[in-house]
Amino acid sequence: HLSVQERIDRKRNAALIGGGQKRIDAQHKRGKLTARERVELLLDKDSFVECDMFVEHRCSDFGMEEDHNKFAGDSVVTGQGRINGRLVYVFSQDFTVFGGSLSGAHAQKICKIMDQAMMVGAPVIGLNDSGGARIQEGVESLAGYADIFLRNVMASGVVPQISLIMGPCAGGAVYSPALTDFTFMVKDTSYLFITGPDVVKSVTNEDVTQEELGGAKTHTAVSGVAHRAFENDIDALLNLRNFFNFLPLSNQDPAPVTECHDPSDRLVPGLDTIVPFETTKAYDMLDIIQGIADEREFFEIMPNYAKNIVVGFARMNGRTVGIVGNQPKVADDDGGGGCDGDYYGGCLDINSSVKGARFVRFCDAFNIPILTFVDVPGFLPGTSQEYGGIIRHGAKLLFAFAEATVPKITIITRKAYGGAYDVMSSKHLRGDVNYAWPSAEVAVMGAKGAVQIIFRGKSNQAEQEAEYVEKFANPFPAAVRGFVDDIIVPSTTRKRICRDLEVLASKKQTNPWKKHANIPL
Ligand code: COA
Repeated sequence: HLSVQERIDRKRNAALIGGGQKRIDAQHKRGKLTARERVELLLDKDSFVECDMFVEHRCSDFGMEEDHNKFAGDSVVTGQGRINGRLVYVFSQDFTVFGGSLSGAHAQKICKIMDQAMMVGAPVIGLNDSGGARIQEGVESLAGYADIFLRNVMASGVVPQISLIMGPCAGGAVYSPALTDFTFMVKDTSYLFITGPDVVKSVTNEDVTQEELGGAKTHTAVSGVAHRAFENDIDALLNLRNFFNFLPLSNQDPAPVTECHDPSDRLVPGLDTIVPFETTKAYDMLDIIQGIADEREFFEIMPNYAKNIVVGFARMNGRTVGIVGNQPKVADDDGGGGCDGDYYGGCLDINSSVKGARFVRFCDAFNIPILTFVDVPGFLPGTSQEYGGIIRHGAKLLFAFAEATVPKITIITRKAYGGAYDVMSSKHLRGDVNYAWPSAEVAVMGAKGAVQIIFRGKSNQAEQEAEYVEKFANPFPAAVRGFVDDIIVPSTTRKRICRDLEVLASKKQTNPWKKHANIPL
């Protein structure tokens, strides 16, 4: 007979080795860490406080009731800990126990920490590595998913939720990551899909590999389902720690302010010459963003998707900010179209609108000020955009900027044309501080297109274009109307923004009461 203490110790030790050494070795052989190793790497040393190590599945079909089919803690490790001293709840699916599949007990463990995270106001990080629903449990497992989905939805906008996909994630399991704020993946070892290659083959007769269908490249560059991909487990977890530092703990907390060694009044001389003299020449918006950010650090979100817009997090004088910028270097994902006759870099299209809108809404939900850098020749024309619903999707970005009540600072570096001018956090959408650089052109469209339309070939094109440029291709039409607050020397941009953020830190603004808005989906 074992004493109670011996039984406790035995169970704890069993929980620590999950599905056993053989399966742990198999996990390592695939280049993957175990659920516990991942938690250790993600959290500060010795900070993990585990919950529910004794929970077991309750299935009694298919021999599941037998002792060798019971694993202490079942197929997920849950608890809370710290990342750089800040509280976070975490669950880590254990592929060594029934392939990390989701039993009723597994779901219950996740729901328990999610409920507590919402009550105390701390983010939830999910490390996903699972063969999906626990097949032996049937509907109990499906119910478990729905219990998690409901909590993902309730927690949305309350605490940040992050998913890191570190193995399989298929079928219904994909919807929890999809509901969270950020989904990151590990290259080569993780995949996400609704149905796997075999089902695809039998239904649509398409031949596709697991990697092509739902690997990191597919979701970060084609589908836009995932926000970043990392090289391996270690790289992903270290990046996640870094990313976490940008986030507030909940919607009740301000964005974190860290100690800053980069002078807030630092001038950035390179910015005075960064915008090319020719208005049809490209430059890299990332150079501006990195130039003004603390220590040049910028955590880009979705760097390989809809590259015509850049979004991500940085700090200004230690304060987290969300940055949105049109990218003049990139036209659209398929390189088509033209807005300004001969130059279309940085156009808004369907994918960039949706990418930008979701990012802006995250920032607004979590009290993160938004900096917007504008160089936009308009919305991308063409049948593929119109048939795809650019009107509806473009409206999302407009909606997101308009409803946002966090501090909003906008800098027009060059073009702000047409409806896209309005959309990009303009004064009219409650921009708090709107600046123009001397190179700014706020107009309905570029000179060439404008002259062709107003004079319809009846004019001396060159002469009329020169007149149009003189009148409109400069910051004055906007500045004289107060639509920009000032025309600033580009090299002073960082200094100006840091000062404004200080002032705007106490900004209070509310929208009219509503159950919820009806953003055009
Ligand atoms: N339910 C119960 N057990 C599962 C499971 C599930 N959904 N998925 C995997 N397992 C078990 C396997 O039986 C195996 O058990 P063992 O260690 O005792 O042999 C273990 O998990 C590992 O699975 P295995 O198939 O050997 O791993 P793999 O890396 O070759 O393949 C998957 C991984 C996820 C691709 C594969 O297991 C699979 O297709 N699972 C079913 C996925 C599914 O259809 N889920 C339901 C839809 S939501």
